[in-house]
Amino acid sequence: MQVLGIESSCDETAAAVVAEVDDPARPWRILSSAVASQVEIHREWGGVVPEIASRQHVRDICGVVEKALTDAGVPTSGEGIDAVAVTHGPGLVGSLLVGLQFAKSFAAAIGKPLVPVHHLAGHIESLFLQNGPLPLPAVVLVVSGGHTSLYLVPEPGIYRLIARTRDDAAGEAYDKVAKLLGLGYPGGPIIDKLAREGNDRAIAFPMTRITHRDRNAPDLAGRLDFSFSGLKTAVLRYVKGREQGRGTGDEGRGGPSTRVARSGQGWQAAGQAVDVAAIFTPAEIRDICASFQRVVVETLVDRLFEAAWRNGAKSVGIAGGVSANARLRKDAAARGAELSLPVFLPTLALSTDNAAMIAAAGLRRFRSGITGGWETNADAALKL
Ligand code: KG4
Ligand code: ZN
Repeated sequence: MQVLGIESSCDETAAAVVAEVDDPARPWRILSSAVASQVEIHREWGGVVPEIASRQHVRDICGVVEKALTDAGVPTSGEGIDAVAVTHGPGLVGSLLVGLQFAKSFAAAIGKPLVPVHHLAGHIESLFLQNGPLPLPAVVLVVSGGHTSLYLVPEPGIYRLIARTRDDAAGEAYDKVAKLLGLGYPGGPIIDKLAREGNDRAIAFPMTRITHRDRNAPDLAGRLDFSFSGLKTAVLRYVKGREQGRGTGDEGRGGPSTRVARSGQGWQAAGQAVDVAAIFTPAEIRDICASFQRVVVETLVDRLFEAAWRNGAKSVGIAGGVSANARLRKDAAARGAELSLPVFLPTLALSTDNAAMIAAAGLRRFRSGITGGWETNADAALKL
């Protein structure tokens, strides 16, 4: 059994072939995985521009699929492919449509079924693809530029949402803080690198803990939900406070910088207005990065292991772009070792968006008899 996976939900056009093999310890094998990243194109704008992303997907999709098939030793006629798995949400709708339309056309042309896949199911399955079956139940943290959620996986292919972010995703906070500090895009890998040389206790940024139940989501246990917009604003206030010559230390107490943040200029406008290089030394920038990252990673690790404890998990996993973060990987592994709870992570290539994870999730769905009709549509806000 071989599945072609296609992913185009954001700014990566990806295709991969994953095969089922006769090895219970690692039943899925990646035969090929091609990714055309648009990072260089969007860097100029400091973030993903949806219209540009869709158009670039159109340019790249044929070549990327052709490469994935060829690398896997499959003829471009698709002979040997048993199903076509594709991300149909969530994501940028214009981007999703490109992959979905291509997948439908290809599946129809080769006379094989279409298997629609949720993008986050793909991230979760990247752990099984990389490591083989995990001890279940497992709690998986999916942490990326668009999502920060905890899922309970009681049995293979079942994903129950335990907690999610109430505002920004962790990766989004990384990207926005990097933008404010003039560090470039995407911010995660840059802050990750700079933070290694910084003092993570230099600035006491606040850790947000949501304790109330949200009236709009009474089914969610509020205590484990995430919130990163307060932290992002605290970094903005800190930078603005220094810009106005107020020195350090007013980041948690409001003051004039709070008025800046609330005056309607907004995060991005204020961020662009600051000449960070004139205010901070490179060492201070590294301290801001390290202090910001400490709060993000502690929050993620604390809540992941708390969810594991509450749900009697036998293992935990971390997936999504931010799982590439060196400190997150190290701190999660250390906490797991302390608690004798196995921690699973994808390889760096499987952390960020790719189609091997979509093929894997598709393989699982296909094996349980799930396929999609030709009426399957892209859904920007698809629920898992
Ligand atoms: O999963 P992904 O490739 O795309 C989405 O589905 O969002 O994740 C991209 C996100 C970006 O926000 C990026 O800044 C972040 O993952 N990221 C990192 C690291 N590498 C990528 N964040 C922190 N540390 C990293 N090393
Ligand atoms: Zn993703």
